Amino acid sequence: MSTQPKPEAQKPVTIHSLRQMKTKAERIAMVTAYDATFARLFDQAGIDAILVGDSLGMVVQGQKNTLPVTMDEMVYHTRAVVRGVQRAHVIGDLPFMSYQGSDDEALKNAGRLIQEGGASSVKLEGGSEFAPVVQKIWRAGIPVMGHIGLTPQSVHKIGGFVVQGRDEDKAKKLFDDALALEQAGCYAIVLEAIPAELAADITRAVSIPTIGIGAGKDCDGQILVSYDLLGMISDFKPKFVKKYADLATTISDATKSYVSEVRGAAFPAEEHTFHSKTMRVVRTRKDDKPADAPESEADAEVSGLYGVPV
Ligand code: KIV
Repeated sequence: MSTQPKPEAQKPVTIHSLRQMKTKAERIAMVTAYDATFARLFDQAGIDAILVGDSLGMVVQGQKNTLPVTMDEMVYHTRAVVRGVQRAHVIGDLPFMSYQGSDDEALKNAGRLIQEGGASSVKLEGGSEFAPVVQKIWRAGIPVMGHIGLTPQSVHKIGGFVVQGRDEDKAKKLFDDALALEQAGCYAIVLEAIPAELAADITRAVSIPTIGIGAGKDCDGQILVSYDLLGMISDFKPKFVKKYADLATTISDATKSYVSEVRGAAFPAEEHTFHSKTMRVVRTRKDDKPADAPESEADAEVSGLYGVPV
């Protein structure tokens, strides 16, 4: 019998632990992910929360904004991320037109991200006008993260991906939005592309964590789109992004080496090759039929190559 102690299961991060982090002035590190492999790496590296963002429309699907992303796509990617995660809190993003139409539809779609996607909470974009929707979803037992400032789903209304809340009226509106979202039951709020001073004021005014992206250093936590922080897209470098790696170059160099080795017959080498002492491949052309070959051509097609004892 093994005497090895079992590795201690890591406690999952909950909305309560995230709120406690604010109380203890511990910064929250968040990132986006869209599949199980990246999610596993982020989780193992100690990320507190992972957002399955509708930014996947741009970085995964190659769209010019997030508007074409559907509920089915969000459920699919959320499910994949959840499979890769043991500890981090996973948030499913409600995509464009999945919650704006009616409160009932919003609740149904939030429920899908939890029930089908396996997320632990959902995020939606918008200010005080979405407080009733937040309330409805929260009352059904689903935690909601708010998102104000630059809200990419309103890109046409805003007039582009531009910093929000620079003049006094707009700053006041964002401040009031944050209070309204907290009042409605949001457990945290993303503050995107707003002046650092405004983000600091909001962070002091609310008791729930603020998560900044392009909102300065005084938020309770930070989030970046993973493809940006890993440097996957070489010609995209907004001011608020810090690239912690240059994976675009790493991936390009690795791919060029692979292409060159395949072309030069250097890959696969001996260590990547299977052999058999007792079997040898006897059929090399379609017409070469070994003695124990299946009778019909259809059988031969599915059997592929035949191995026979030497
Ligand atoms: O969709 C997303 O990735 C987001 C983050 C940028 C906050 O909403």
